[in-house]
Amino acid sequence: MHKYTSVFDILDVDTAVKQAISLKKDPFKYNHLGKNKTLVMLFFNSSLRTRLSTEKAAQNLGLNVMVLNVSNAWKLEFEDGAVMNLDTAEHIKDAAQVVSQYADIIAVRAFPELKNKAIDASERILNSFVNYATVPVVNMESATAHPLQAFADAITIEELKLKKQPKVVLTWAPHPKALPHAVANSFVKMMQRLDVDFSIVHPKGYELDPKVTKDTPCSFNQEAALADADFVYAKNWSSYKNYGQVMVQDENWMCTKAKIANAKFMHCLPIRRNVVAEDALLDSQNSVVIQQANNRTFAAQYVLKSILEQQ
Ligand code: CP
Repeated sequence: MHKYTSVFDILDVDTAVKQAISLKKDPFKYNHLGKNKTLVMLFFNSSLRTRLSTEKAAQNLGLNVMVLNVSNAWKLEFEDGAVMNLDTAEHIKDAAQVVSQYADIIAVRAFPELKNKAIDASERILNSFVNYATVPVVNMESATAHPLQAFADAITIEELKLKKQPKVVLTWAPHPKALPHAVANSFVKMMQRLDVDFSIVHPKGYELDPKVTKDTPCSFNQEAALADADFVYAKNWSSYKNYGQVMVQDENWMCTKAKIANAKFMHCLPIRRNVVAEDALLDSQNSVVIQQANNRTFAAQYVLKSILEQQ
């Protein structure tokens, strides 16, 4: 693997999931691979799970890790040919090449602003690092994608499924803030690559990018969609059509223990308790959100290992 910016950078998902589960059983088996090499993690936005799980994965492989919260660094310029006489102090071209002098792998977290669909779709920050860095780049959640989360979710479903082709439903859930589409996008793309019976349910007006959903069944009736589900994945996202807007905060879409019935309940975390899902569900045996968070380490470890093996 030469980069991990999208779930499509994993060529064979089934094999990758099995290898990640093997890493979970024997996490230090490849701790020689990262010797004398460095992962630099750049955070344009905050993180709990991604930061700690990726650092832990790197440590399991023997990598050194350096972390920079970019809000503490110079304000970056992205325009080619910009006359930098305002508030941007360093061009991304220079920054990406400089970071590459200290890193064998660069991992980047950069959320969308949810103001301009075209700018967010261009993945300006992530793609600038891909274009200008001279070492492989890993996406730790960008404007439109969270492939490390989706890979961890695929691992979790493989570990817990009780039938060959489980029914998996992605349901929109309410949230007080406008949230990105990244987690939902990558989860949809990952489920489209697995042998699962997959569908999406959301209120009208919350259709995801049709280039992402393609022919995945989408409906508006949560109760009907969740019937007989084996896995229910809850996630809020803002409107894609009315880009970045919160159109509905209908608490009837909150996930409850009664709605989930016998399904496993999934969420990427962090989660707003009693808004996205009720305490009784999150604290029940149905909830597998902590297992998902644990699997973030082994998703990241598979990706870092695959990159190190190509260097
Ligand atoms: N799920 C996830 O990416 O969590 P963090 O935002 O805490 O990294």
